[in-house]
Amino acid sequence: MQTVKIAVIAGDGIGTEVIPEGIRALEAAGRQCHLEYEWTHFDWSCETYHKTGRMMPEDGLEQLKAFDAIYLGAVGFPGVPDHISLWGLLLPIRRAFDQYVNLRPVRLFDGVPCPLANKQPGDIDFYVVRENVEGEYSAMGGIQYEGTEREIVSQQSIFTRHGTDRILKYAFELAQSREKKHLSSATKSNGIYHSMPYWDKRVALMAQQYPEIKVDQYHIDILTANFVQMPEHFDVVVGSNLFGDILSDLGPACTGTIAIAPSANINPEKTFPSMFEPVHGSAPDIAGKNIANPLGTIWAGAMMMQHLGYPEIHDTLLNAMESVLRNKNSLTHDMGGTASTQELGAAIVEQIHYGQPPL
Ligand code: NAD
Ligand code: IPM
Ligand code: MN
Repeated sequence: MQTVKIAVIAGDGIGTEVIPEGIRALEAAGRQCHLEYEWTHFDWSCETYHKTGRMMPEDGLEQLKAFDAIYLGAVGFPGVPDHISLWGLLLPIRRAFDQYVNLRPVRLFDGVPCPLANKQPGDIDFYVVRENVEGEYSAMGGIQYEGTEREIVSQQSIFTRHGTDRILKYAFELAQSREKKHLSSATKSNGIYHSMPYWDKRVALMAQQYPEIKVDQYHIDILTANFVQMPEHFDVVVGSNLFGDILSDLGPACTGTIAIAPSANINPEKTFPSMFEPVHGSAPDIAGKNIANPLGTIWAGAMMMQHLGYPEIHDTLLNAMESVLRNKNSLTHDMGGTASTQELGAAIVEQIHYGQPPL
């Protein structure tokens, strides 16, 4: 029996509701493949912040280093300013463990009502590849003349050649491995003077090494319009930290709900643990109601197993998701149903065990 060691940070709000369903689904799929998990739970959250003044202990990152992977629910809750909670927990993990790839698949599933007209399952099936450790997400800058009429705030974006090229390379390699071999790059080179033309230049240079790949370069404004008007056009979409963030909410919204979308924060070299989480946040508006959709977390768990070298567990989980959705069993409110978080989680487990929904 093999064992994988997973650090679990359920975090805030619905993070604490969806993570138990993710663990149940992973346990069920793992059992079939004779894999055991060692789950170590960390109660780091906004509640911890209220008690200790920190989102995680001083040696938090050190503690996480020993794990094979990190499974995270959501971070951030009213009562703690978002930049404090996120820069105190989620963002330092991405950075310290050099999880520079944020891979976010977007797929329209049979059974999930699509807000766009005349789209069939299979029509929307692409990846957002988001640069995850630099770019617009930066603590560089500050405030001058604070409290006066002359107050000025500056915020720097950082694009290194190393950081830009490695995310582009990942995206090009992913496009190369796919049937359509099509890469779209998101920038805003008409308005942002330095970083965006630089990104475009690095894309054009790298494209020379991948002659089979069709490359489109878009300004982010029209790209968002095209996501809505012709989502079937896209295959691999690569963007900076901020643009990738925005596109990876918009993409899943075009498939019916952001709540099924997973997010893999990957350190491809495997020098450090990678982290897997749903794309969505802590959803304070529905927290505590037991109606959150756990599928983004379950899909993120599947991506975690793929990353750790268990593709069969990934496939078991994805097949179960597809069947449950196709049969419209136990859908949560965001997908037009009335099921609770636990009922949808149970339907996935039953599907894994018996290939059928619960009675
Ligand atoms: P959100 O994703 O938490 O919620 C947006 C909307 O989507 C809400 O109406 C919510 O009810 C709905 N929703 C989200 N997940 C759902 C699910 N699983 N099932 C059903 N409905 C779901 O985004 P927000 O409101 O902008 O952010 C709330 C908090 O979460 C903030 O503190 C924010 O910073 C944080 N956040 C954290 C992460 C993360 O930890 N990776 C991601 C996004 C937002
Ligand atoms: C996400 C979230 C985070 C991000 C926030 C909470 C900092 O929106 O994971 O998509 O922007 O990366
Ligand atoms: Mn986001």
